[in-house]
Amino acid sequence: MCIFVHMIDNIKAHLKDVAAFTPNTASEVEQFRIDYLGKKGHITKLFADFRNVPNEEKKEYGQLLNQLKAEAFAKVKASQTELSGSQSKSTMDDISRPGQPIPLGARHPISIVRERVIDVFSRIGYGLSSGPEVEDDWHNFTALNLPEHHPARDMQDTFFVQTDPDVLLRTHTSSVQVRHMESNQPPIRILSPGRVFRNEAISARSHCVFHQIEGLYIDKNVSFADLKQTLMYFTKAIFGTAEIRLRPSYFPFTEPSAEVDIYWGIENKADYRITKGTGWLEIMGCGMVDTNVLTNCGIDAEEYSGFAFGMGLERMAMLLHQIEDIRVFYDNDVRFLKQFTPLS
Ligand code: PHE
Repeated sequence: MCIFVHMIDNIKAHLKDVAAFTPNTASEVEQFRIDYLGKKGHITKLFADFRNVPNEEKKEYGQLLNQLKAEAFAKVKASQTELSGSQSKSTMDDISRPGQPIPLGARHPISIVRERVIDVFSRIGYGLSSGPEVEDDWHNFTALNLPEHHPARDMQDTFFVQTDPDVLLRTHTSSVQVRHMESNQPPIRILSPGRVFRNEAISARSHCVFHQIEGLYIDKNVSFADLKQTLMYFTKAIFGTAEIRLRPSYFPFTEPSAEVDIYWGIENKADYRITKGTGWLEIMGCGMVDTNVLTNCGIDAEEYSGFAFGMGLERMAMLLHQIEDIRVFYDNDVRFLKQFTPLS
């Protein structure tokens, strides 16, 4: 009995030691593990003593011993995890320390301008439509009133895919409008932003890959006056001026067609240079959708009319951010890109 009480107290003392153990280093934990859970450790010894325990007390002894083993094991585990994260622990504990700066990325200027244009038109009910970059002849040319051998095809130097003249990289996103008209009936009010391709020499002013946004509005009784109001609303929102000029122009898919200029002003040398001394800047092409195009796309040209417009996003971004060379958009130089924060 006496021996047994001593043995029970022994385990209880160990339980207290285990609970109080607060290591500071991994080697202290390891030593503790060896002392308690090692082959020659306390617990092994205590288990060996089990046979000396009187039968009627075996139960209590066994329970306490199992408890000791579980607690010693848990302590080792907990101490190991705590100390392995000790570096972050010591710093993370101080919640008053200054936050670590997380560098925020910047949006690409082309994305910024695209989102602005989409936002301005979405307020007057325009939705979005997209289509493939690799197109067929019908959607890029023929449906748009550019039959085979039409001289106006030369206006858009085309990249053909392999040797098949029917497979090409779209030269404008008007192809998306054709696809949309083929599968939707008016009223139609869509914007089609996207990447386009033209076989042009790369210079400060032009690139063989660039971005467009084109718009299309078709309904009953849509007139040129509606087009003009829409353009004025747009230029006011983007450039802050509704002072525009429509110069007669030619596009195979619109009739009449016009080039849109905004009044930019001449206040300094740069203005003089970009407006070629006139104060006016060309920003896009537009016109009333040619009745042939409507018919080609399955829309009744007697009942409906509409207008279309198209602009280059690089050009818009160059004007809005005074960028002189189109090539910087594709260099992906972080020093250039990080200058851009979204305009309101
Ligand atoms: N698709 C023309 C282009 O790529 C732009 C345009 C669109 C002109 C719609 C008029 C109407 O140049």
